[in-house]
Amino acid sequence: MSGTEAQANIGVVGLAVMGSNLARNLASREGNTVAIFNRSHEKTEALVEEHPEAGFLPATSYEEFAATLSKPRTAIIMVKAGAGTDAVIDELVRVFEPGDIIVDGGNALFTDTIRREKAVRETGINFVGAGISGGEEGALNGPSIMPGGSDESWVTLGPILKSIAAVAEGEPCVTHVGHDGAGHFVKMIHNGIEYADMQLIAEAYDLIRKGTGKTPAEIADIFAEWNRGELESYLIEITAEVLRQTDAATGRPLVDVILDQAGAKGTGAWTVQTALDLGVPVSGIAEAVFARSLSSKPAQRAAAADLPGPDETLDIHDADAFVEDVRQALYASKIIAYSQGFDAIVAGAEQYGWDIKKGDIAAIWRGGCIIRAQFLNRITEAYAADPGLVALVTAPYFADAVARTQQAWRRVVVAATEAGIPAPAFASSLAYYDGLRADRLPAALVQGQRDFFGAHTYKRIDREGTFHTLWSGDRSEVEAVDTH
Ligand code: 6PG
Repeated sequence: MSGTEAQANIGVVGLAVMGSNLARNLASREGNTVAIFNRSHEKTEALVEEHPEAGFLPATSYEEFAATLSKPRTAIIMVKAGAGTDAVIDELVRVFEPGDIIVDGGNALFTDTIRREKAVRETGINFVGAGISGGEEGALNGPSIMPGGSDESWVTLGPILKSIAAVAEGEPCVTHVGHDGAGHFVKMIHNGIEYADMQLIAEAYDLIRKGTGKTPAEIADIFAEWNRGELESYLIEITAEVLRQTDAATGRPLVDVILDQAGAKGTGAWTVQTALDLGVPVSGIAEAVFARSLSSKPAQRAAAADLPGPDETLDIHDADAFVEDVRQALYASKIIAYSQGFDAIVAGAEQYGWDIKKGDIAAIWRGGCIIRAQFLNRITEAYAADPGLVALVTAPYFADAVARTQQAWRRVVVAATEAGIPAPAFASSLAYYDGLRADRLPAALVQGQRDFFGAHTYKRIDREGTFHTLWSGDRSEVEAVDTH
């Protein structure tokens, strides 16, 4: 030890925007003293200088950082997810002691978090992967936080994280999600739902614009209005603001001068990859990820631009009625996105042995995070009423909502299809809904095909057992065999 007096109860490593804002948030809360460290010391000095009110304790080395922290030492790593995270963990493990706590607050892939937690645990140090949502503003004023890790670490970490989290209806938006990678898993699903929600909103905008000829500013008013009803959410609110923005250089709506190729940092794709492994149909989320991929293929889009199709003209007689249909289609599709996201959480919890309380997850998403929305309360209520709920969309509140909106949803998908306007997330969510409620699915035929070419066997509706048919051109020779 360097002899420096230990006086900070929490430290932050990595002082880019998210890290600095989180450090400032921590420092602003009663009872916290914050040690800070950054690989290049100029950033640390600049932060101390810009925010004297924070009373930061800057460190120039990992040794000094460790010496500045009271025990159990608790540090949050806020660096870009990837190899950099491993490098910082190695340094902290070197200077920390058993019982101390290392938190990764980045968007790490949950399987990396499981690996890191296992490795760090062997040193006696706690490792916590914590999803933090809310962007720069959330980090500063109150994010939604999804920590995993051990029960032991939660004892120390819980009060600190509660002190900085967003507050929704009097409750801090943080809970101990589950062990090892559970927090980053849930954050990943949050982002998958975020992708779906954003794509659905974008499709709603596109349909209204092409269907009614309204300007972006007029559509901004529609979104602002929707934000006063059951669709009330952060993403609807900011959509109104984005659509209202005028480009200073050209005077045109800003949305019209932004290149229409959506970027992605990977968490949406992780959700879909993970769901594929778990066998969970997150089709709405997948369409949202694919829609961004499609948008970012300029050469293919240019080559396909002259392919035939309707000219995106909608035959709308009553613009208000159409807008209301789109609103209802958006609401119904959004319910499907959440339902699919929670299915993935249930499957992940089962696969990895996490005790995740679905209602608590919905509760901590009510504030601070990107997908915060009014109807998350209804999700918490649905899981409280029936903890074993098999599909969120079947809970009474959501089943009623879909029953009320499904005709409009169908009209919108039909209109989009007829006009040649792509609405992949709307259409896929509806197909999922119809698939889920179908009495009989053509999966029976798929089973027959599989048995035909690969003797993959099938089950029957009228008898127990596993069957294989001896297929032949002559039907009379076809025979079912119980392979048991
Ligand atoms: C959040 C956000 C954030 C995320 C990006 C997604 O919850 O605050 O989910 O963590 O990284 O907003 O970025 P891309 O759209 O670039 O994948």
